[in-house]
Amino acid sequence: MIYIHSLGRAFRYYPQRAALVVGGAAISFKALHSRVRNVAAALVSHGFAAGDRLAFPPTISPRERVVATASEILLYSLLLLQPLVGWGMLSAARYPIVMYGPVHLFPILPHSAILYAALRKVHTLLAYLLFLAFLAHFGAVLFHTLVVRDRLFNRMAPWRARGR
Ligand code: HEM
Repeated sequence: MIYIHSLGRAFRYYPQRAALVVGGAAISFKALHSRVRNVAAALVSHGFAAGDRLAFPPTISPRERVVATASEILLYSLLLLQPLVGWGMLSAARYPIVMYGPVHLFPILPHSAILYAALRKVHTLLAYLLFLAFLAHFGAVLFHTLVVRDRLFNRMAPWRARGR
């Protein structure tokens, strides 16, 4: 994968150097840059802008879109909140939070047994919620991929299947 800024740089420094070899024929950085620029111009002329996101596939109903977006926000919020609650809980207990060897995290909450007890419960609740949110997300992806067969998983996979 050549990122657009790397391509721009390569075009400036080595315009004639081979960027791609397709079927035995080499394409220079200059030619590739010009093709990418044409594709980008065509997309812009169709109303696309930098930062636009891929639309949901039509197999996902408007209600499912709302649930999918909300569950994503919930998952990311919990992934941020849960470690913070863990950190706060151990801070309230004045328990050493060892990162590595002598490196300890500083306390973020005052020393309080009541606070510790409350946060310990919150930590368990959030852990269940995180697990449920993950299961719901995973179940929906499995349903779409195996039952609806709309290749939803391919959109999420970091290695994304090319050209499919
Ligand atoms: C995404 C991050 C985290 C997840 C998913 C997570 C999840 C969990 C779960 C499932 C439990 C067991 C709950 C129970 O038995 O009721 C637990 C316990 C605990 N967690 Fe976390 N945790 C996270 C981050 C942290 C962090 C950052 C700390 C501290 C800095 C922490 C400190 C603790 C402590 C002290 C316990 C109690 C252990 C015990 O009672 O033996 N956690 N956590």
